Amino acid sequence: MALKDFSGKIFAFGYDVFMFPIEKFALEKLRAKALSFIEGKRILEVGVGTGLNFQFYPDGVNVIAVEPKFEMLKRAIKRAKNFNGQIYFVSARVEFLPFKDDFFDSVLATFVFCEVENPANGFRELLRVLKPGGRLILLEHVRPGGKFLSKVFDLVNNFTSILGENINRETLKIALEAGVVIEKVINVYGDFVKLIIARK
Ligand SMILES: C[S@@+](CC[C@H](N)C(=O)[O-])C[C@H]1O[C@@H](n2cnc3c(N)ncnc32)[C@H](O)[C@@H]1O
Repeated sequence: MALKDFSGKIFAFGYDVFMFPIEKFALEKLRAKALSFIEGKRILEVGVGTGLNFQFYPDGVNVIAVEPKFEMLKRAIKRAKNFNGQIYFVSARVEFLPFKDDFFDSVLATFVFCEVENPANGFRELLRVLKPGGRLILLEHVRPGGKFLSKVFDLVNNFTSILGENINRETLKIALEAGVVIEKVINVYGDFVKLIIARK
């Protein structure tokens, strides 16, 4: 096994191990709430990771799950065994989606845009593939508003960004600039974890 494949495997496994207590204490409830906003049957989830949202989908939906990292995708495929609907997996990035215009009823991304290399292009693509009036659901951690905390996040970001994790990303602002129509923003933890419900 090549070193790259091995490190990818360890990373994907480590993600689930690291997330387990956080899921149990906090995120499962949040994921369930986010997915309760899903509309329609044709759903796109981008940056699906290891598939931690799967258990919260309503029954009978058709999901296309997109993820660029092969080992994450492999774990997601395993996790989808008992999925209560149709689910298809595609290896792709949100900035270049291999789907036609105006196709999906709902699009979901949870904790993805902090890692996306070009978030503005990512939102443009999401808007392209969403049908007119389609729903966009984002659960994201973002740069906090307060003067002090935002500076702390900027400082820490110098280190986390080396690993591709941008903890000071202004995802809501970038989404608005891309033309997303915001319906509701729920501040979940302070103002640095947000549930954003929007439409095309
Ligand atoms: C922090 S994980 C979140 C995974 C999952 N959504 C969750 O809630 O557990 C971020 C995910 O976004 C994926 N990602 C990074 N850049 C991406 C891009 N440009 N397009 C789509 N997914 C991306 C990563 O590979 C990773 O699986």
